[in-house]
Amino acid sequence: MTTLITNIWLLVNTRESNSLLRGKELSDLPCIANAYLIIDDGIISEYGKMGDLSTVNRQLSTIDAAGATVLPAWCDSHTHLVFAASREEEFVYKLKGMSYADIAAKGGGILNSAAKINAMSETELYDLAWNRLQEVIRMGTGAIEIKSGYGLSVEGELKMLRVIQRLKQQSPIPIKATFLGAHTYPLEFKNDHQGYIDMIIDEMLPVIAEEKLADYIDVFCEEGFFSAKETEVICKAGISYGLKPKIHANQLNLSNGVQTGVKLKAVSVDHLETMNEDAIQTLASSNTIGTLLPTAAFFLRMSYQPARRLIESGCAVALATDYNPGSSPSGNMNFVVALSCIQLKMLPEEAINAATINGAYAMELQDEVGSISVGKKANLIFTKPIPSLAYLPYSFGNNLVDKVMINGQFV
Ligand code: NIG
Ligand code: FE
Repeated sequence: MTTLITNIWLLVNTRESNSLLRGKELSDLPCIANAYLIIDDGIISEYGKMGDLSTVNRQLSTIDAAGATVLPAWCDSHTHLVFAASREEEFVYKLKGMSYADIAAKGGGILNSAAKINAMSETELYDLAWNRLQEVIRMGTGAIEIKSGYGLSVEGELKMLRVIQRLKQQSPIPIKATFLGAHTYPLEFKNDHQGYIDMIIDEMLPVIAEEKLADYIDVFCEEGFFSAKETEVICKAGISYGLKPKIHANQLNLSNGVQTGVKLKAVSVDHLETMNEDAIQTLASSNTIGTLLPTAAFFLRMSYQPARRLIESGCAVALATDYNPGSSPSGNMNFVVALSCIQLKMLPEEAINAATINGAYAMELQDEVGSISVGKKANLIFTKPIPSLAYLPYSFGNNLVDKVMINGQFV
């Protein structure tokens, strides 16, 4: 089926060829004013200025965009969308002054989520995750990465990854799966870190590889969690099974996670709240993407990622939600884009590129999504009428997404 979309006020991020954007390139966001777009069987086949549209000898079903701005759907390259329950009780404890350590001592945090996941059936877990996936698609997400990491046992991690595999099979949007067995140490391995690392390498990874349950391997490289050395050992084991690293780095401390990720040729190093010059220069001189998760810094009241210094140093930067029950209980990419402008001082063009084409690269989905390009999926956001592109992050918290199209169909 061929669909023609007419009267697009602004068609955003139109690109003839793909490239990962770094440094100054991030502020160049190609757009076409007063545009049309043609979709063939869910794939973008043509676009241009309304004045250049020729419909001679063509059978087209037409949709009038009526002045909407059309963007490529968001590419959310870092989420923990599969979880058993929200954790707002911990949120209230924190409001009352309890520290993260106090909460962890009461069995809270990641261990709280792990206990709940292990007690829940795979079907129940799938249903909850499916609903969250539908919700984020309605908010404009058109491709997503999802991590395990709340199982922390062979059975629990495999259960999470099987849920993600089922989501992949059923989902209308592309999904990438990441194995994050090394999220924290389960209680029984509190004093036997090597024992848990051996379990990840000897018991989890072989099954994950055999059943093709993951695309990437992740480690929470952080003081009090996994050291840079341990991160390297775990990632190398993953690499030997064909999983590329995408790691949690430099959230709470200068963990050397960035340098370790770059050394291992990680697809991305994510978080980056805590950076120094060496970490920035190491990232800038690599092909590893720095994925910023500003809503985690917002929710935990931490200092924001130094986006300006990263961009000015020439880094390739992506934006993602980190959707999880502990540090970012929201999968709303619209808010991530707004927050990155408001607090990280990214320009609207930089933020939109980081949340679309660079997010696609951070999932190695750049040939399928992330820009308006011939041959890519028609996964699109149609906005309500807006006076300018900058209005999107400016008008934060207001829902400016009118309709979302996935594979050429409105959802
Ligand atoms: O990416 N930093 C580690 N993991 C998650 C949060 C984990 C949790 O509290 O559930 C994150 O922020
Ligand atoms: Fe995370």
